[in-house]
Amino acid sequence: MSAEASEAAPGGRRLHPLAVRIMHWTNAFAMVVMIGSGWGINDDYVIIPHWQFGIHLRLGNGAPQSLLWHFAGMWLLAVNGLAYLTYGIATGRLRERLLPIRIGDVIRTVRDTLHFHIDHSDLTTYNAVQKLLYIVVILAGVSQVVTGLAIWKPVQFSGLASFLGGFQSARLLHFIGMSVIVGFLVVHVALSLLVPSTLRAMLTGGPRLPRRGTIR
Ligand code: HEM
Repeated sequence: MSAEASEAAPGGRRLHPLAVRIMHWTNAFAMVVMIGSGWGINDDYVIIPHWQFGIHLRLGNGAPQSLLWHFAGMWLLAVNGLAYLTYGIATGRLRERLLPIRIGDVIRTVRDTLHFHIDHSDLTTYNAVQKLLYIVVILAGVSQVVTGLAIWKPVQFSGLASFLGGFQSARLLHFIGMSVIVGFLVVHVALSLLVPSTLRAMLTGGPRLPRRGTIR
């Protein structure tokens, strides 16, 4: 925690306000449902020949059941994601937390990480790689909703489907988006377990911050 944050007066805003925590964990739940049920649909109608995820990794027994889970999770993911983006943009929090990203900072963070020089003492600041990964995963989430719409209603959204290169191409893009999100999740969950103070902060709100504009 930064000196500024630790000296903040009681009652100041939290690093992760309650609304953000609720939306983050709702999103995590929705993502697990979407990934597990997506794997279930894939297993009945494989996109990569012979590539199946298997019974222990999928949600739903067969595509008809998995599709029901996928459609239920879809509404939760889309509504919650829209709320997160609206809140983050309207309050300026997303810009404050995730911008700016400088290429030099990204290179320095990668170099430091490879040399095991990572400073986790200041929870109030995301490093350049974290910022980049969070932006990539947010864009991947948006892309999943857009490509998902084209696959779900290819006739009603025929313009969108053809913009994405047709139904099969939209499916492939949807699969690639899922792979990006799963890759992010593996690193994200591993890091939050390695640095439990970040996990505690995402559960309890973390340190109180003095005033807007003081976190990078
Ligand atoms: C279920 C497993 C998950 C765990 C344990 C977890 C944990 C965390 C933690 C501890 C933080 C705070 C990081 C920090 O302050 O350094 C965080 C932030 C974040 N997580 Fe997760 N997360 C999970 C799932 C997800 C999923 C599924 C996504 C999106 C696909 C996601 C996207 C994000 C984003 C964008 C942030 C930044 C939030 C902000 O400050 O607005 N997380 N997560």
